[in-house]
Amino acid sequence: MTFVYFASSNENKFLEIQSLFDVENKENKENVKILFSSPAIKEIQSDSIIEVAEDKAKKAFSIIKRPVIVEDDGLFIEELNGFPGVYSSFAFKTIGNKGILSLLGNNEKRRARFLSVFSFFDGNTIETFGGETAGHIATEIFPSGWGFDPIFKPEDEELTYGELNLQRKNDISHRSKAFRQFLKWYKLKYNHHNN
Ligand code: IMP
Repeated sequence: MTFVYFASSNENKFLEIQSLFDVENKENKENVKILFSSPAIKEIQSDSIIEVAEDKAKKAFSIIKRPVIVEDDGLFIEELNGFPGVYSSFAFKTIGNKGILSLLGNNEKRRARFLSVFSFFDGNTIETFGGETAGHIATEIFPSGWGFDPIFKPEDEELTYGELNLQRKNDISHRSKAFRQFLKWYKLKYNHHNN
């Protein structure tokens, strides 16, 4: 059995990757288990989401002392020149979904993309994986989901992230794309070590 700790202060992210892991890894030949841990980590301020994730992975490892993955996300809105981007967490806490809608006003151009970056660190190897989902910002707040879920409509979907069920969100989300990459890499690494 191998354990990988998902270090985050956001349990919603863990619920999504746990469900995805169960679907993607039914046979679980590698006997991998993803565990949740929420160590207190101070994030660096950087204009690179990759830099933030890699720094977070190293800090989480120094606390947990076990192989860890962490995730950093950003919502990039085209008409706002990429804002909130690397400031997404701060923007959510301060202006929230209502503030984002006010910034866009009646603008018809509402294209946006969600980025996810996962970083794995086991004390030796640092490996980083990305996923992206394009879409647009709704004109109102749909009352379901967490974070920006209530205002983000992925491309080719009638519904916001928040209205999609867990499985559908996991089919198309930025998080699922990055996490699948990690899982593929991790299984290869594991098999390589054990053959
Ligand atoms: P974080 O810094 O990685 O936690 O993410 C930046 C911001 O994006 C936070 O406010 C999150 O709540 C939000 N966020 C990240 N992923 C999602 C998602 O899948 N749905 C809705 N909001 C998200």
